[in-house]
Amino acid sequence: MNAVELIKKKRNGLTLTNEEINYLITSYVKGKIPDYQFSAFLMAAFLKGMNKEETSYLTKAMLYSGKAIDLSSVKGKKIDKHSTGGVGDKTSLILAPIVAAAGVNVPMISGRGLGHTGGTLDKLEAIPGFRTDINLRRYKQILEKCGAVMIGQTKDIAPADKSIYALRDVTGTIESIPLITASIMSKKLAEGIDGLVLDVKTGSGAFMKRTADAKKLAASLIETAESFDKKVVAFITDMNQPLGNYIGNWLEVYESVMTLQGGLTEDLNEVTFNLIAAMLILGGKAKTIEEGIEIAQYEIRSGRAFDKFLEIVKLQKGDVSYLKNPEKYPRSKYEEKIYSEKTGYIKAIDNYSIGLAALELGAGRKTLTDKIDAKAGIIFYPKIGKRIKKGELTAKIFTDKKSQIEVAKKMIYDSLTYSGKKVRAPKLIKTVINL
Ligand code: URA
Repeated sequence: MNAVELIKKKRNGLTLTNEEINYLITSYVKGKIPDYQFSAFLMAAFLKGMNKEETSYLTKAMLYSGKAIDLSSVKGKKIDKHSTGGVGDKTSLILAPIVAAAGVNVPMISGRGLGHTGGTLDKLEAIPGFRTDINLRRYKQILEKCGAVMIGQTKDIAPADKSIYALRDVTGTIESIPLITASIMSKKLAEGIDGLVLDVKTGSGAFMKRTADAKKLAASLIETAESFDKKVVAFITDMNQPLGNYIGNWLEVYESVMTLQGGLTEDLNEVTFNLIAAMLILGGKAKTIEEGIEIAQYEIRSGRAFDKFLEIVKLQKGDVSYLKNPEKYPRSKYEEKIYSEKTGYIKAIDNYSIGLAALELGAGRKTLTDKIDAKAGIIFYPKIGKRIKKGELTAKIFTDKKSQIEVAKKMIYDSLTYSGKKVRAPKLIKTVINL
């Protein structure tokens, strides 16, 4: 087979066979197809789409580029959650310790920041020393010891996604239902889980801007998971504004720590607690969402949730002193406050621009080799429906890049649309499928 012919076949809108997709994935992982050719294939797939069969072949090829982990020796149910990506979406850091503290195993494999969205791995690595590149043996050991482990794709586990994910990030090929489905499911099916909760985001800060597209993505993810006999629950949740107030890797760890210690950021808690409840239902520890939420609240009140987070971080070699004393974390060279230019109700937030502003400040990557500044980011206070007065503090930005301060400030100002009339806040949880 020949990569150029297969790229042309997809470019011309034709359907690829199982063998052809396998050839592309295995050759790329072995380094026999260079990045520039694989990028061309990704763009062709992005523009021409892939049907159900091709999506399933792609998922399988990416899954079996590495090992499917056997966790049958680990006692108890193993349930994970995956989000399709958003701005300020730090729910994984909060829910993994809570669900583990409640007695359900969470063997999580996550990704890095993608496009304007943040990634769990980059957030965890903001904790000094934290290792996400753990081998299979240690992955199981940590899971057995504390009930949760949080790693990235490795050369053994979903290696195809490790490379393709990074390439999609810098080639404009993220927002594609088949590519997202194969990326997510190749990682999640490799984990050896019994069940999965999906958080499919929709809105200006999501890859699927329209709810109809988010529903299509949810259907594609569910169909793929069920073809592998995995139980799946999918939430469609709002991403028209940042989740919580903190955006940027360390800032999101900080907000997660506050939440694990009882902090009440309404929207963040609502989404996280619902996801936790669904995980506990799949894990057999709760019968209803309400019961699951009560368990989550108990785990926080009792201190067990934060203790569990410290245990995970310690086992993955992170320095917990920064979580116990966050003020000890290094500060950005530049910290600037942004004040509202107008008075009114917040009608809309261009959440994509908020994600991009964080990236400009250093919180994300523009090329494969860009280094992330874990300190960089934004604390962003406006919420849709909230009234803001001229001169009121709307955001704080953190960066080491002086040249990007004005760029980010303008993006933040421009992201806000005001109204003189009252505005209703968007419903956070739009649909729950399969519960
Ligand atoms: N999360 C993933 O793991 N992959 C994607 O493509 C998008 C979100």
